[in-house]
Amino acid sequence: MIDIAAIRREFPILSRKVNGKPLIYFDNGATTQKPQKVIDAIVKYYAEENANIHRGVHTLSREATILFEQARKTVAGFIGAAEQEIIFTAGTTDAINLVAGGLSLPEGGEIIVTEMEHHSNILPWQLWCEHHHGTLRVIPVKADGTLDLDVLETLVNPKTALLAITHVSNTLGTINPVKEIIARVRKARGGHIPVLVDGAQSAPHLQVHVHDMDADFFVFSAHKVYGPTGVGVLWARNPDSLILSRAGGGTIKTVTFAKTEYVEGPSRLEPGTPHIEGVIAFAEAIRYVNSIGIRAIADYEHHLLMHATRRLNEIPEVEIYANHLHKAAVISFNVKGAHPFDVGTLLDKYGIAVRTGHHCTQPLMQHYGIPGTVRASFALYNTIEEIDLFIEALQKSIRMLL
Ligand code: ALA
Repeated sequence: MIDIAAIRREFPILSRKVNGKPLIYFDNGATTQKPQKVIDAIVKYYAEENANIHRGVHTLSREATILFEQARKTVAGFIGAAEQEIIFTAGTTDAINLVAGGLSLPEGGEIIVTEMEHHSNILPWQLWCEHHHGTLRVIPVKADGTLDLDVLETLVNPKTALLAITHVSNTLGTINPVKEIIARVRKARGGHIPVLVDGAQSAPHLQVHVHDMDADFFVFSAHKVYGPTGVGVLWARNPDSLILSRAGGGTIKTVTFAKTEYVEGPSRLEPGTPHIEGVIAFAEAIRYVNSIGIRAIADYEHHLLMHATRRLNEIPEVEIYANHLHKAAVISFNVKGAHPFDVGTLLDKYGIAVRTGHHCTQPLMQHYGIPGTVRASFALYNTIEEIDLFIEALQKSIRMLL
């Protein structure tokens, strides 16, 4: 059991009002709110610890370096990885671009993605295809919001070079059986091909073991796991397998105008001064999540999902996309006859924050033939009472709109 009242007190923003009403924050898929401990870690860094890392013999620099490298260990532990497999990036999108720019894939190769990918796990691969005469192959989505895995093997052929797949759909919440998909694609291909799993929406909600999943790359963002924006993680089974698509200070052993020798390990892929305070505060966020337990969080969020799904299904005008419960705590829906922006705008008047629109998944919207959805996405500080207030506000909004 988790003490939700105590948890809520740790998030200062949850006590603010929006449009005269207590904030109900259901836009956690876009970014989560931050506990005081994470906010304090950022302030403490600037008040007491600020120095550049990996570059100085002075005390502050050594202390900041230790904190930064300890954070690498903390992040690694969170996803069952080793610290030398963790590369800090600016976020999920940056991490995917780093892989797309650094993998040596065969010219004319085919890249398998899914129809439910977020744009960030489509566009870097589309760019790769443009530059290398490649082709995207797409695992389709079924009407129930899950992947159509009956056709999986038909998408694989000798040109298949990579699989890039989301673990959890940001729009629908669907949890994909990535381990099974990876195994089936490699079996059909008859050998190892690199696999990238986008964990932006799974890391905050599920226990992740990257080695068990058998991917080569796993990416996620700090800001969706109660940490700061501008920081993300690229887990790479073998960071040295990536060629350098960007280079700079902090990545080298020796530089001459004739030749540069680079270090091995994650630092090779982290040029320039990193987001030091962000990384340190990210570790604080992970310690916070660990103190509650990701499994306890997942169970609680599932309880919220079940309640919200049941209540929404009672409203005849509401249509839920992926109306099932094998999901992270995300519900995308529309009110028949109303535009999602109008629903979202009215909910905001009641202090309720949801995301509306295409959620950076336009191909998925094209699949459903809709301009967008209203998305409620929950986190560990949301409550059943908030869901009931949201249902009440939604019913009032529907009466205004229809
Ligand atoms: N990817 C984030 C979302 O789904 C921004 O809202």
